[in-house]
Amino acid sequence: MARQIPHATFLESLRFSAAYTLPALLRGPYLERPAMARLLAWLDTNAAAQRVCRELRARYGGRAVYVRNPRTVLLILSQSDIRDILTCSDAVFSLRTKAKRAGLRLTQPNSVLLSQGELRRDRRRFNEAVLQAGQVPHVLAPRLRQVLGEELDGVLGHVPGEVDWARLSDAYGRAVLRLVLGDQARDDVRILEALRELRAEANWMGLRPWRANRVRALRQILENGIERHVAAETPGSLAGLFAAAPQTTWTYPAGQVSHWLMAAGSIEVRALRTTLALLAGHPEQAARARAEARADDGIERLGACLCESLRLYPMVPTLFRTVTRAVDWHGARLPPGIEVVIPLAVHHRSPQLEYADTFTPEVWLDGRVQADWRVAPFSGGPGRCPGAELGVQIAATALRVLLSQYDFHPAGPALSPDRPLPKTLDPAFLRLHAYPPR
Ligand code: HEM
Repeated sequence: MARQIPHATFLESLRFSAAYTLPALLRGPYLERPAMARLLAWLDTNAAAQRVCRELRARYGGRAVYVRNPRTVLLILSQSDIRDILTCSDAVFSLRTKAKRAGLRLTQPNSVLLSQGELRRDRRRFNEAVLQAGQVPHVLAPRLRQVLGEELDGVLGHVPGEVDWARLSDAYGRAVLRLVLGDQARDDVRILEALRELRAEANWMGLRPWRANRVRALRQILENGIERHVAAETPGSLAGLFAAAPQTTWTYPAGQVSHWLMAAGSIEVRALRTTLALLAGHPEQAARARAEARADDGIERLGACLCESLRLYPMVPTLFRTVTRAVDWHGARLPPGIEVVIPLAVHHRSPQLEYADTFTPEVWLDGRVQADWRVAPFSGGPGRCPGAELGVQIAATALRVLLSQYDFHPAGPALSPDRPLPKTLDPAFLRLHAYPPR
């Protein structure tokens, strides 16, 4: 007899939705809403979600379970199921879910992420070639050092004081424009502003039709700006690598760029700040990271610190897939149309990981994490982030510039080893003092 996929009870479903799904929607799937992030951190919703998932795992023996959320989704609770889903063909477990289409079509209608079939393969090939997926160092590594060095030099001032995140964001944003589109794009910050407003709109997933005219105007600014700079093919930028990358008439290279600007831009708020705060609260780790930054001796440890902060506070907290055709699932049938939910923010802190709630960059250096499918800040398999290596190199290079110029200390409550690290982070909690060398 065919095995059935278990269904969570009404109460279990309600608890999961309240602890995980609703907070994610309130926080903003495409652009964080600061007031909500503060409220959710206060409620520590990720801790609640972990309790619910632990109970579901215990009750259903770690098997994936149908949850009404409010539509029925398949919730993935074990490491082997994460591996099976992520390594299976993306033609079966598609990244292009209904919610992503509703939100991201405003900012990246022609991106690889929203493409299917042959078109997806075509665009994926192009993305992998330009972003140099899996490759370290990226061919633009010397440019990363130059551009981030120029933009972040002295950015936090020359006297001790509290870190002005807005100043850092502004300088980092200009660096991203130069690296993605070329030096001539440096001051074209309207592109980033339009993207930001569109991401805020994407949070509403198309539920505000009366904003259509504004959305159209913003898309024009974004797309015209990107296309103009891409046409310049400026050497020393990703756009300068387009001509040599494999492409067809359908690839639409400029259509890939808004995702890159969004991802590379998010690194500053979602990874760099957190890593600086974690280092400020862990003086021994900070000393090692600073030594690497100041010795100008690679960025391996700095990269590990970043990846560890992405494990503790993932930039992409949930992986979603849509089942495109009926598939066998442990002897049962998974029907087409079902959405699969992998709650990374929960798995990354699994109590079975001995380093779950501590800042331990070493796990990225000794291979422990790479062997564990529960930890997947860049996803895995055919949908793995093609910009992972480049993103870590950008972030680690920025970290190197900052750590070689400043010492950082907490200016508020610290993310320190003295108490378990919070599972839900309030970005406003990240207050630091920067001390330039005397
Ligand atoms: C360093 C921080 C980054 C993190 C944590 C990250 C994370 C992710 C994750 C988890 C996915 C896959 C989502 C899924 O499986 O559903 C993804 C996809 C993607 N990322 Fe990143 N990313 C980062 C940086 C970047 C950068 C810098 C770029 C480009 C410049 C980039 C480009 C992409 C693209 C194009 C996809 C879509 C892949 C596809 O549809 O096959 N990412 N990223």
